[in-house]
Amino acid sequence: MLCPMMRFLDQNLCLFWAILGGDFQIEHIDKVSKKLYEKYGKIVKMQGLLGRPDMLFLFDPDEIEKVFRQEDTLPFRPSMPSLDYYKHVYRKEFFGDNCGIIAVHGDKWQNFRSKVNQIMLQPRVTRMYVKSIETTSQELVDRIEVIKNEKNQVPDDFLNEIHKWSLESIAKIALDVRLGCLDSDAHPDTQKLINAINTFFMNVPVLELKIPFWKIWNTPTFKEYLNALDTIREITLKHVDIALHNLSQDYSDELSVLQRVLKMENDAKTASNLALDMFLVGIDTTSNAVASMLYQLSLHQEKQAKLYEEIKNLLPYKSTQISHEKLDQMDYLKACVKETMRMYPVVIGNGRCTTRDRVIGGYQIPKGVQVIFQHCVISNLEEYFPRSGEFLPERWLKNSELFRNHHPFASLPFGFGKRMCLGRRFADLEIQTVIAKIVRNFKIEYHHGKLDYHIHPMYTPNGPLRLTFIRRQ
Ligand code: HEM
Repeated sequence: MLCPMMRFLDQNLCLFWAILGGDFQIEHIDKVSKKLYEKYGKIVKMQGLLGRPDMLFLFDPDEIEKVFRQEDTLPFRPSMPSLDYYKHVYRKEFFGDNCGIIAVHGDKWQNFRSKVNQIMLQPRVTRMYVKSIETTSQELVDRIEVIKNEKNQVPDDFLNEIHKWSLESIAKIALDVRLGCLDSDAHPDTQKLINAINTFFMNVPVLELKIPFWKIWNTPTFKEYLNALDTIREITLKHVDIALHNLSQDYSDELSVLQRVLKMENDAKTASNLALDMFLVGIDTTSNAVASMLYQLSLHQEKQAKLYEEIKNLLPYKSTQISHEKLDQMDYLKACVKETMRMYPVVIGNGRCTTRDRVIGGYQIPKGVQVIFQHCVISNLEEYFPRSGEFLPERWLKNSELFRNHHPFASLPFGFGKRMCLGRRFADLEIQTVIAKIVRNFKIEYHHGKLDYHIHPMYTPNGPLRLTFIRRQ
């Protein structure tokens, strides 16, 4: 006979299998979530699924708003116990009490975050990096020229080129180093780092959404995951050391994040652990958002033409420099970014672990439950975004008849509250700059079968991005 706990597990597995038609694949979690919503409504409880704590799926922006507004002083995002293990057990001696932000909670998290918030989130600071990001974006434009074929189409691994741009941009922001990722003779560390980050992200959902055997023995996936983290840590540290060695004492405006932390804290450990976290979560997120946006623009030529008009007005020559004042005026560009992130948020969901008993959606929810905000499903519902299946950047523009005051919690690509994305200002700057540069230089087309989206490990077009880049005058 099954013990009561096993029965729950069993029932839930059956439920999952039933919903999935017997095909549980992590890359289709977006579809599973949608099916759960359609079958059970706006609030769904999963009891102790696959050895995890109870989970509560929320498909209701009103309830999500309440959870966020009543957030604790030390919010707990239920993510990455495997990274928690890496930082607090496996490499405890290296991290000590100063483990950074990702997979860190409580006082340690608050201590670290309060030190770096000001540096990472002040628009005044972000603006100082426009020139650096423009330079890395120009390198991607030049690289597209080199790699496209006689039909102007880029190779199947184009996403990897965008990863390189993203890595180069973060290295500039975090450490003020030029890695040369997009050079034809790039250092082998570049690809090693990109691969390691990809392995890390690919293995996170396997370790955390399937039965956590890794907690009992060293599974091959877990070994691969730990090796990838070691690679990321070692390569990042190599560059931190170089950056520390080259630090100039005459602090000017264009300081790297590393220099800013050192100036404020005089603490190399805080600076290098922040850089490590930025490398860990700041590369694939941004590059997949850019890939998704290029794909959407290629599918919606009339929107791309409108965007080009806006960009050309502000950048009359390809050589016209981008400034933060010019970016501020690119309203349609920002609307295109918002619309892409609404329909295809690279991070499809977010969550908080309840740190005390509370009422959610009229139900008594005990402490320790993982509340998962199903953003991707919500931001694609007609109820919150009329004509939700259409790519309509105009819905975000106040002077458009399509504009509506959307529910502020119905599309939250960067999360909300005290644990909101620390890199969102840099991510916005990077995405806006590179798209402005590419659209100013090329007309983007796509001449192949339509791509579905999947979790890989970000929410991204499923298939080679065989885009065509036609040079503009
Ligand atoms: C399109 C790009 C990006 C997206 C969509 C994104 C999304 C997110 C989301 C949804 C969260 C969770 C927020 C919450 O719990 O409320 C998060 C956290 C975080 N992000 Fe991003 N992110 C992006 C880029 C970046 C970049 C470029 C960096 C670093 C430079 C970064 C650093 C972080 C950090 C450190 C956290 C953890 C914050 C904490 O727990 O206190 N992200 N991001």
